[in-house]
Amino acid sequence: MKTKEFIDLRSDTVTLPTEEMLEAIRHAELGDDVFGDDPTVNKLEELAAKKMGKEAALLVASGTQANLVSLMSNTKRGDLVILEAESHMYWYEVGGLSAIAGLLPWPIESNLGVLDPKDVEVAIRPKDIHFPEPALICIENTHNRHGGTVVEPDQIKAVSEVTKAHGLKLYMDGARIFNAAVALKVDVKEFTKHVDNLMFCLSKGLSCPVGSIVVGNQEFIEKARKTRKILGGGMRQAGIIAAPGIIALEKMIDRLEEDHKNARLLAEGIAKVDGLAINLGIVQTNMVHFDVGELGITANQFISELEENSVLALTLAENKIRMVTHRGIEKEHIEKTLSILESIVKELRLKR
Ligand SMILES: Cc1ncc(COP(=O)(O)O)c(C=O)c1O
Repeated sequence: MKTKEFIDLRSDTVTLPTEEMLEAIRHAELGDDVFGDDPTVNKLEELAAKKMGKEAALLVASGTQANLVSLMSNTKRGDLVILEAESHMYWYEVGGLSAIAGLLPWPIESNLGVLDPKDVEVAIRPKDIHFPEPALICIENTHNRHGGTVVEPDQIKAVSEVTKAHGLKLYMDGARIFNAAVALKVDVKEFTKHVDNLMFCLSKGLSCPVGSIVVGNQEFIEKARKTRKILGGGMRQAGIIAAPGIIALEKMIDRLEEDHKNARLLAEGIAKVDGLAINLGIVQTNMVHFDVGELGITANQFISELEENSVLALTLAENKIRMVTHRGIEKEHIEKTLSILESIVKELRLKR
C-alpha cells in the first residue's frame, strides 16, 4: 500500500479528486445513462464536445476503453491501423486492438511522436488483393513514451492532409491533450480541428477519479455509444463520474502549467547531478525521463533506492526512469526529490 508520505511521481493518474469534486459527486443529479437520462453525463458530454469543437462526445470508463471504442467505431475487423511505434495503444493496452477489435497494427517510427507525412504515405499501401484495407491513422498527444512531448497543430495538419488525400480517418489519443494546449498556450481546438475524432482523459492531470471522453461527429459518437455497450461500458448513474469531469473542464486545465513548471525544475535539477543523464529538450510538459546507466545500476534497482527514501517513480526501460508531476506535487516535493536523488547517486559512487 502506498501511503500519503510518499512523493508519488509514478503518474498523474494518482491524483485524488478535489474537495469540490467530492461535493459535486455528492450532489450530482442522476439518471440512467444507458437510457440517455443522466443529466450530469449529458451536461459533461455537451461541454466536452463544445470545448473540443466537435459535434458530440461520449463518457467512457478509461483511456484504454476510449481507445478501443474509438478504434472499433472507426474501422471494421481485418482493417489495417497505422500507428506510432511507441504509442500507448501499441504498447500498453493488452493488444486489445488485435484481440478484440480484430485489427492489424502497422507501427511506424516517429521523431518524438511526430509522424513524418511521407512515412504515413508509404505505410498506406495501395489497393491490392493481398493487403488488408488501411482504415485509420493514429497519433498520440502528448506522447507518453517519448516523454510527454507535444505534437504541434501544424504537424497534425501535415498528417491530416495525407489521410484526407487517401480517404482515411485520423484519430488522436489525446489522453493529455490539455497538457499540449497549455504548453503551447493555444486553444485545444487548434489540435482537435485537424483530426476526425479523439479521446482525452479526465483521470490524469485533471484530477478526476475515473473517466475519459471520446469526441467526434454525431454519427461516430452514435456508433461509439453502441460499441461502448458491447464492451460492457454502458454505465447507469454515471453522473457520479461526470460531476467531477465538469469541474475538471471548467477549473482544472490552467493549473497544468504548474505541473509543467515543476517538471522543468525537476529536469534541470537532474541535469546537474553527475551520473544521471537527461535530454532537457524533451521535457515539454509534465513528464521527466532520465537514464541511470552510467551508475552501473538498473532502473529497477534505482527505483528501489528511491522507494526506500519515500519517492516513487516508474521504470521505462533497462536504465530509464520516468517521473510525472501533477496536482499534489509542489515545489518543495521537487526540491526534496532532487536532494534524495543526489544522495542516492553519491552513495552509489562511494560503493563503486
Ligand atoms: C497516451 C495514453 N493513452 C491512453 C492511456 C490509457 O488510459 P487509462 O489508464 O485510463 O486506461 C494512457 C494512460 O496512461 C496514456 O498515457
